Amino acid sequence: MSDFVSVAKVGDIPDGEARTFPVNGRMVAVFNSDGELHAINDTCPHMGASLATGHVEDGAVTCPWHAWRYCIKNGTWLDNPNPKLATDSYELRVEGDDVQVLVPDPPPRSATPESSE
Ligand code: FES
Repeated sequence: MSDFVSVAKVGDIPDGEARTFPVNGRMVAVFNSDGELHAINDTCPHMGASLATGHVEDGAVTCPWHAWRYCIKNGTWLDNPNPKLATDSYELRVEGDDVQVLVPDPPPRSATPESSE
């Protein structure tokens, strides 16, 4: 069962920047925007660039490869409202000096039909 995981200390991520952390099998980008911390999946759904290396402005990150923009609060693709094109966002909390994120376990693989032979 997934639980919150400490990934950094408060102050480790400069304002306007992001850092990536492996959590529960995924790469998570934690952004600091004007002192607010947010966590989304680091992998751009388009072709896999690291969103943490993109430019952050006004609550959005611009992918460094093809300039698609995502909301750093909820992962919405800001250039297209189709929810299937969003990236995942994760719960984040600060416990004492620790920045913690919660990345849910991946859904179980669907059972494959067994052969009748
Ligand atoms: S890889 Fe991010 S916009 Fe293309």
